[in-house]
Amino acid sequence: MEQNRQTIPIASDHGGFELKEFLRHKLTEAGYHVEDFGTYSTESVDYPDFIHPLAAAINQGRFPLGIILCGSGNGAQMTANKYPHVRAALCWDVEQTALTRMHNDANILSLPGRFLNFDLAWKMVQTFLTTSFEGGRHLKRIEKIPHLFTS
Ligand code: RB5
Repeated sequence: MEQNRQTIPIASDHGGFELKEFLRHKLTEAGYHVEDFGTYSTESVDYPDFIHPLAAAINQGRFPLGIILCGSGNGAQMTANKYPHVRAALCWDVEQTALTRMHNDANILSLPGRFLNFDLAWKMVQTFLTTSFEGGRHLKRIEKIPHLFTS
């Protein structure tokens, strides 16, 4: 029986590769379809080369939610947030992950692959994929994010 065929795009550099592989396996086991944007080994690479294509796909509306990783989660998040319709959140625990869906409608979860316990990371991914945006007062706040201040 087909349970959950939502497609989840995932991308990392070498610093996030091992956790990406773990999460790719867990997602597939849970019934998701995973679109793997690379990298495909622990060979050193530049994270923007792998994060840009995934962030562009989210920006274009090809996928509602995505997962990115690098060693710290910072470079991946900074790259993804260059796109106007991307709200990428760097998270370290389950509560932060739930909050960024509920309050920020984050559409990309950025994970620090060199620092997170893998089982915790899987709980965070499950939380990210199953928690809804609360809307209400948070909607007008996220709508203000793209409006740059010019004096
Ligand atoms: C790679 O060594 C590392 O700099 C990268 O994975 C990431 O942490 C950058 O923000």
